[in-house]
Order: sequence, then structure tokens, then C-alpha cells
Amino acid sequence: MRKRIIAGNWKMNETIDESVALASAIKSSLFEIDDPEVVLCPPFTSIARVGEIIYGTAIELGAQNMYWEQSGAYTGEISPPMLKALGCRYVILGHSERRGLFGETDAVVNRKIKACLENGLSPIVCVGETLEKREAGVTREIVSKQFTRSLAGISGEDIKRCVIAYEPIWAIGTGRTATPVQAQEVHAFIRSLIAESFGREAADEVRIQYGGSVNPDNAGGILSQPDIDGALVGGASLKAESFCRIVLS
Ligand code: 13P
Repeated sequence: MRKRIIAGNWKMNETIDESVALASAIKSSLFEIDDPEVVLCPPFTSIARVGEIIYGTAIELGAQNMYWEQSGAYTGEISPPMLKALGCRYVILGHSERRGLFGETDAVVNRKIKACLENGLSPIVCVGETLEKREAGVTREIVSKQFTRSLAGISGEDIKRCVIAYEPIWAIGTGRTATPVQAQEVHAFIRSLIAESFGREAADEVRIQYGGSVNPDNAGGILSQPDIDGALVGGASLKAESFCRIVLS
């Protein structure tokens, strides 16, 4: 049985004080919850403080990006050991905003995933198509290409430590979510890709999250689908009340 995983991607939101307030409110509602797994991914500047707040609970800590080198002259970057030392367990990698706004290619995402795994962190690997590609009927081709290239060279054991996030770009921050059936269809396809590349056992274990305008009203329908093992929540994770309602749905 795959344990559901609900992650809040705070993106470039929340100062330290705001992060403390948000994490404290989430903790007060969810401190006893260990199923689903809950992950908070604050901006880098708030990870340490949020880590202190959720310490001792089952709530996990994640980052939104990372560089692949261990240390050195890489101005502005953050390394895997730095995130490890803060208590991070997860790192979101290959988010469409990183791919689209900051030019991250599948090859870059692949290097980051490998570094993440080598350092004992678990990547949340994002894939998803644009509206143009969906309307052109090539969603599977796009997702398959991103999946295969981003995860090239990953072992059958390491894939089990990865979470895949299917985030159709047309559903991110638009209020236009995929229907449960649309999302399930792509999730089942991603699971078939895992089986093809890594075997049936891995496919049964790897968790696949859906992301894109998830809110308390649509979460139940999305999470009831057989191949949807959780949600990667953006906007609705910035309000404790809506995030907690999604976790408890
Ligand atoms: P929204 O939930 O705001 O659509 O964002 C989704 C997302 O990009 C999570 O990573």
C-alpha cells in the first residue's frame, strides 16, 4: 500500500515571520497526523525556522530546488548537504516554473535528481504538459519524454525513493484543475512508464502526486483515483485552513 503524500509548495511566498505563523497554524491542526504524509516546502530563507517548528511531529520538510554540486564557487546556489543539514527530506525538482522561467532542461533535472539521491534526499520530480500540447493531443509524448530523460540512469532501488508529481501546466495557478478522470489517465500512464523502465514492483511502490489548482473542494475527487497518491499544492498551501482541509480530505 502506498502512503499518500500531501506537499505544500509555498513557492516564493512567506517571509520568516509569515512562515512561522503558517507553519505553527498547520502544526496545531496536523501534529498527530502521520497518514497521509505531510511535507512543507518553504522558500530557502524559511526552511530552518519551519524545521524548528515542526520538529518532533510527523510533518516533513522539503526544499523547492537545489544545485547538484556539494559545495564550491556557485554563487547563489544551495547544495544537497546544506538541505540535509536543515533536516530536509524532500526536494522538488524539475518544477515547470524552474523549467519554463529558469531554463532547466531534462538534463539539468537529471543531474539534480542524481545528486539528491546520492545525498540521501528524496526528489519530488515534476512533469507535465502545456495547454498547447494537451490540445494537440501529445500529452503522453511530452510526459514520457520528461520522465525518461529526467530519470535516466536511476537504479531500480533509487526510483522507489522518488515521488513523481504530475502537474499539467495549464492547471497551475489558473483555478482550472484537471478532472479526476483526466488526471487518473495520465497517472496510470506514468505508472506504466515506471513499470516499463524499472519493473512492476517499483511501479507499485512509487507515489505519484497530482498538482495544479488543488483546493479543499476538489481534493477529495482527485485523491479518490486509484493511481493518484497525493497532491502537490501551491496556492491553497498558503492558508493553513485550506491546506489542512486538503490533508484531511
Ligand atoms: P497551484 O496549486 O497554485 O495551482 O500550484 C500548483 C503547483 O505548482 C505546485 O507545485
